[in-house]
Amino acid sequence: MMERLILTAMLIISGVLSEDILEHQCALKGTSVILRCKYNNLPGLTVRSIKWYKVQKVADKLMFFLVSGLPSPANHFEYMFNNNKNDCSLRINDVQFADEGEYVVSFVVNLQEVKSHKHKYLSVKELKAVVEPSTAAEGDTVGLTCVTACPEKTQIAWMRDGLPVTNTVFQATKEDAGRYYCAVYQQDSARSASVTLNVHYAPTGVILSVSPAGAVIAGSTVTFTCSSEANPSVTQSGYTLFKDGKFISSGQNFIISDIHPSQSGQYHCSAWNGIQWRGTSFVKSLGIRVEVQYPPINITVSVNPEHAVEGSSVSLTCSCETNPAVDTYTWYRKTLSDSSSPPVWVGSGKMLSYVFVRELHTGLYFCHVRSKLGESNSTEVMLSMPESSHDRKLLPIVVGTGVSLSAVLLMALLLFWKTQKRAMSQKIAAEFSLGPGESNSDPNVVYANVTMLPLSPLPDEAYTNLILIEEIHIRM
Ligand SMILES: *[C@@H]1O[C@H](CO)[C@@H](O)[C@H](O)[C@H]1NC(C)=O
Ligand SMILES: *[C@@H]1O[C@H](CO)[C@@H](O)[C@H](O)[C@H]1NC(C)=O
Repeated sequence: MMERLILTAMLIISGVLSEDILEHQCALKGTSVILRCKYNNLPGLTVRSIKWYKVQKVADKLMFFLVSGLPSPANHFEYMFNNNKNDCSLRINDVQFADEGEYVVSFVVNLQEVKSHKHKYLSVKELKAVVEPSTAAEGDTVGLTCVTACPEKTQIAWMRDGLPVTNTVFQATKEDAGRYYCAVYQQDSARSASVTLNVHYAPTGVILSVSPAGAVIAGSTVTFTCSSEANPSVTQSGYTLFKDGKFISSGQNFIISDIHPSQSGQYHCSAWNGIQWRGTSFVKSLGIRVEVQYPPINITVSVNPEHAVEGSSVSLTCSCETNPAVDTYTWYRKTLSDSSSPPVWVGSGKMLSYVFVRELHTGLYFCHVRSKLGESNSTEVMLSMPESSHDRKLLPIVVGTGVSLSAVLLMALLLFWKTQKRAMSQKIAAEFSLGPGESNSDPNVVYANVTMLPLSPLPDEAYTNLILIEEIHIRM
């Protein structure tokens, strides 16, 4: 009799108590889910507590495992039992894939425990981030899609390398590259796996550097290095070095171990990684001027006119190749008659000029050239005069002087009286009797730069008391 009553009660409970149970629910991994459950209280029967079981098939037999006995962290399962609200729900916190499966609730009524005949199935899904395309060139449109397999609408948020992403469709820039994931809004634990967006871009910041920096001395070793920032990185063959716009080599580095002055020029490099940028795929660096410096070489002296006539003007010009420019030119003369005596200093400046060349000026001349990088002597050049002019007797006449406060400007006006050629000497006398103003019209005579040189020892006694304009130095 008693047993039949209980049996009847159990049938009623199992039929009525859990009628409001949802049969299928979906949860995103990392979220919390409530397996919803309502029951009806029957008069005379009080539900004292509930129990939830996970149902698993073991060897073709259904087995019931109490959720509190499952291997999961504390508070993973929470009974939301409330008899006043007829609530028999189960809350699962931080849902994991292992939580997927079949669940069943049971009611403790009086002293009996009665399982619901309705089972509930929980599926656990994960958010999936899709970045399309995953490799983009700068300027391409990229779209972010967060795929959820649960039918419930979920508000999601995007993150890139820990920073929130506001637009899910954008034109890629190199700054957009990174690792993306989507997550349930304000529930960062319920997130997708990360997906990488790779943004390809043409080289930027292409720079040519020359080492050592500063002055390049002939014969030294110079290294050119081209660098850039690019994705994908520029390979060795993507770098090219140019001199004055002409191809020199490919590769990131170029070494000249014994640089020659002819290698001076404007250098630049270009970088290429296959990605176009504004229609061009080769990106150029700025140019670098390389000036190879070298000490004076190839020093030569030219004499103009080549064959001087006594009394005419002669200039000697010192030329050389050098970089940087010459600091000083110095002229020396060796006397032909006494080759053992040391060379005599005769002047300075690029050009040495004699307005009235004379026998005593003949000899071997050379110039000494000095720059920051070194010094050197030219080869010797002979200044000679035809034999006939040696026999001429010269009689100079000092005609005028010029005086200033700080210096004495001497106007030596010479008359060369020649016994054989009176007419000629008269012509010369006419020239030198002109005033200083008129004389300036003669481009060979530069009064301001007149240098008086001691005349002794003179080879000819006849010259002893003469004041002569011997050297005129014109600094070029
Ligand atoms: C020296 O100068 C001459 C004439 O300009 C030139 O032909 C020669 O190549 C030069 N030599 C050197 C070593 O530069
Ligand atoms: C150039 O000549 C001067 C004068 O003879 C001499 O003192 C000097 O050593 C020479 N310099 C060089 C570099 O040959």
